[in-house]
Amino acid sequence: MQKPAKTKAPINHIIAHRWSPRAFSNKAIEEDKINALLEAARWSSSAFNEQPWRFIIGKKEEETWKKILTTLVEWNQQWAKTAPLLVLNIAKLNFTHNNKPNDVAEYDLGQAVATMALEAVHQGLFGHQMTGFDGKKAAELFNIPEGYKAVSVTAFGYYGNPDDIPADIAKQEINERSRNELKEMVFSTTFGK
Ligand SMILES: Cc1cc2nc3c(=O)[nH]c(=O)nc-3n(C[C@H](O)[C@H](O)[C@H](O)COP(=O)(O)O)c2cc1C
Repeated sequence: MQKPAKTKAPINHIIAHRWSPRAFSNKAIEEDKINALLEAARWSSSAFNEQPWRFIIGKKEEETWKKILTTLVEWNQQWAKTAPLLVLNIAKLNFTHNNKPNDVAEYDLGQAVATMALEAVHQGLFGHQMTGFDGKKAAELFNIPEGYKAVSVTAFGYYGNPDDIPADIAKQEINERSRNELKEMVFSTTFGK
């Protein structure tokens, strides 16, 4: 399903066509497309080129996929179980060059994840990020070492059938996408003005 952003200025097709569905198709994602998602993340920018992102990828029916699914809050599990690929997004919290805290590790991880989500659109896929999950449980299940933080999970796949997810959630699939006005977030003299 297409839900292009109703933009007030022309923007590139991929950004306009990215949205976060909850009804995914059962169709597996081809290996080359999974590689493309990961390669896109790899080329994201980061402070000091630290590249503080790590990903645990689970393909449907694999143990890893099931484990990632169990970390999600129940509400997310109801729809995310339709996704053929679940990715656990992890930040490395200290810089490698001096072992000091990297205050922008999660910022940089977020950029990499956003880059993946845009590449997904390029590949005819969709991604849906979630922070409704239990990071501590993820750390236990996957032996994530100290100094790393499980920050979010992304569900990826082709668009599916809203009938395959609970009706109240499916309703949101047809909701129009909305955004605040630019004037609420862009200022020119002082904050708020
Ligand atoms: C960091 C982050 C966390 C999110 N967590 C959840 C979540 O736990 N469950 C969910 O259904 N959607 C989640 N979302 C999806 C947002 O609700 C969605 O991106 C937002 O409503 C804008 O819609 P769009 O992505 O379709 O433009 C999350 C998105 C982001 C970026």
